[in-house]
Amino acid sequence: MAGGGADASLFIIFGGTGDLAQRKILPALHQLHAQGAAGRDCALLGVARDREMTDARYRALAQKAVDGGESRDEAAAWAERAVHYHPIGAGTPGDYAALRARVERLEAAHGLSGNRVFYIALPPSAFPGTVSGLGEAGLNRSAGWTRIVLEKPFGRDLASARALNELVHGYFDEDQVYRIDHYLGKETVQNLLVFRLANAMFETLWNRDHIEAVQITVAEELGVEQRAGYYERAGALRDMVQNHLTQLMTLVAMEVPSAIAADAIRAEKIKVLRAVAPIRLENVVYGQYGRGAVGGESVPAYHDEPGVASGSTTETFVALKLELDNWRWQGVPFYLRTGKRLARRLTEIEIKFRRAPVWLFRSAGCEEDVHRNTLLLTLQPDEGFSLLFEIKAPGERFRLRQLPLRFNYAEVFPRIPEAYQTLLRDLLEGDQTLFVHADEVETAWSLYTPLLDAPHDPRPYAAGSRGPAEADRLQA
Ligand code: BG6
Repeated sequence: MAGGGADASLFIIFGGTGDLAQRKILPALHQLHAQGAAGRDCALLGVARDREMTDARYRALAQKAVDGGESRDEAAAWAERAVHYHPIGAGTPGDYAALRARVERLEAAHGLSGNRVFYIALPPSAFPGTVSGLGEAGLNRSAGWTRIVLEKPFGRDLASARALNELVHGYFDEDQVYRIDHYLGKETVQNLLVFRLANAMFETLWNRDHIEAVQITVAEELGVEQRAGYYERAGALRDMVQNHLTQLMTLVAMEVPSAIAADAIRAEKIKVLRAVAPIRLENVVYGQYGRGAVGGESVPAYHDEPGVASGSTTETFVALKLELDNWRWQGVPFYLRTGKRLARRLTEIEIKFRRAPVWLFRSAGCEEDVHRNTLLLTLQPDEGFSLLFEIKAPGERFRLRQLPLRFNYAEVFPRIPEAYQTLLRDLLEGDQTLFVHADEVETAWSLYTPLLDAPHDPRPYAAGSRGPAEADRLQA
């Protein structure tokens, strides 16, 4: 969301050799550098436990991670000039003192004035030790600005999220803290704000008088992959609903902010979360995928995936109904639905408008129930939107057809930036709009913690299906 410039800085990645650093962070930083955008003047320090790793090897790793074919020479030059590595050891105070000394040496060598990012791309169990290690070593402050980035999951329930926030706030002010939800970096998610707030036509209809229901779907074809160790303890409610789907819901439901600015937008999102009524257990359906076929290939059941316990009750699917107690949305159900191993990958927001107050076409054999305007915002793949509206089919007297008025991103904008590129640019420019505030994360956990505490028994569904039938009944 940021537009201004970024100051030169040192970008320190904890978990510098890890999967996230290689797949997302290094490529995004390199892209920003190559575009001459924020990040152009970033020196980079990968930090990890690996003692065998050297500056030269880490440069090779970084170069491989960003390898863009024709830009190979440029990537090599970038790695040579900007990339460094530091082995951290077990995380003793001495290790952090050594890190501090290294940071200061690098800043002197690169002529930097003390602007620092600490990106914690580590498993959640390592967050507390790293945050306090940095704080105790005095690395929470510097001569310039210091920002800390925390990846998801941020806590695993309300109590743990609170404890983590308290720990973080013991060393860092909230305006130094950048909690990542990569969905907020997706171009089409940000477009939700523009769609609503720059098109007065929609904003005037955006309320209980005109909208009957909202459905937010994040369907994945992928299964649990190699992540059973994490996923078995998480499940879809923690992994997707508490963060990504809830974030989408707040962007759809929030009031018009007083400005397009981090404070104003995040305050409105928090108000939405506070308006959500306690979720009733009968309004939640859990599922777990069984064997089946996705994209023509047969795939195993969740409990046959490597690392999954055979009697596991971890949910891979959740559908639930949220109700908002506020003037704008009272009586409008928000259905959230997500699952792994579903028929096709689709992230979509469906806004179903109320039907016409008087339906004149019944006598012509057209049932009113199927004929209503619907807005479909497709966030991925095939980014775009469709407005379904009624037309008269030619020839016959009053035969109605529902057709889409469609806008497709790819037809107009061939290249949509990667979410991490957007997020890192904003981070370097100091814009927190697309990052999750402490209050947001805690309020979101407070909505779902009662569900996490209640026993649940996921319904089986075949991989490649729409999910358990009970989920459809929720909407009926
Ligand atoms: C991650 C979840 O946050 O989001 C994964 O941990 C999930 O389980 C992923 O697959 C989905 O992200 P995207 O961008 O592919 O929709």
